[in-house]
Amino acid sequence: MKNKRKIVLYIATSLDGYIATCDDSLEWLFKVEGEGDNGISEFYDTVDTILMGKRTYDWVIENAEGDFPYNDKECYVFSRSAHKDNNDVKFVNGDVVNLTNQLKNEEGKNIWLVGGGELLLSFIKEKLVDEIIVTVAPTLIGKGIPLFKEDDYQLELMLKGVRRFNQFVELSYEVRR
Ligand SMILES: NC(=O)c1ccc[n+]([C@@H]2O[C@H](COP(=O)([O-])OP(=O)(O)OC[C@H]3O[C@@H](n4cnc5c(N)ncnc54)[C@H](OP(=O)(O)O)[C@@H]3O)[C@@H](O)[C@H]2O)c1
Repeated sequence: MKNKRKIVLYIATSLDGYIATCDDSLEWLFKVEGEGDNGISEFYDTVDTILMGKRTYDWVIENAEGDFPYNDKECYVFSRSAHKDNNDVKFVNGDVVNLTNQLKNEEGKNIWLVGGGELLLSFIKEKLVDEIIVTVAPTLIGKGIPLFKEDDYQLELMLKGVRRFNQFVELSYEVRR
């Protein structure tokens, strides 16, 4: 039997657990000295579908130079309000469980959960994430948008791998079921 596709959170974080400053800046991240592309293209090849929250989508649109960067993948943006789909993305409203189950039952590569922290919280609370890969920047930013929002949940993980990309550390975990 073929392996079921997985939902993989692949995200960069400051050492103190933030994915962006309060004003959505990632400058602190981009100035870290990594190595090559820090494993991004290798990971990118393992997925064919991308999930993100509306605030992350807005950030990508504002900061993309040229074409939408994920236009070779099937891309879903979660929002609780209605938006018109475009050539790059489909907007989905609400039920993370339904869409995830539907996608997992289809054939395909893994599914990249891009974030941000708010959308991730829904996935964590519903125990929908299969793997977590965090790339940790050697930076403390003190406050900002948390990777893991405070709430009632507990998730046990199994460490699968540790890699170093110069100043970055990549930690890979499997979620225990
Ligand atoms: N460091 C990194 O690798 C990384 C990765 C990703 C994002 N980021 C950064 O993180 C920031 C955005 O993160 P964030 O946590 O503020 O926002 P987010 O999770 O990207 O988006 C939040 C929005 O998504 C929608 N949403 C969230 N959960 C939903 C659900 N269960 N069902 C339906 N819609 C849902 C809502 O949109 P509506 O308000 O439209 O209803 C909500 O306002 C940006 O600055 C981005 O650059 C950093």
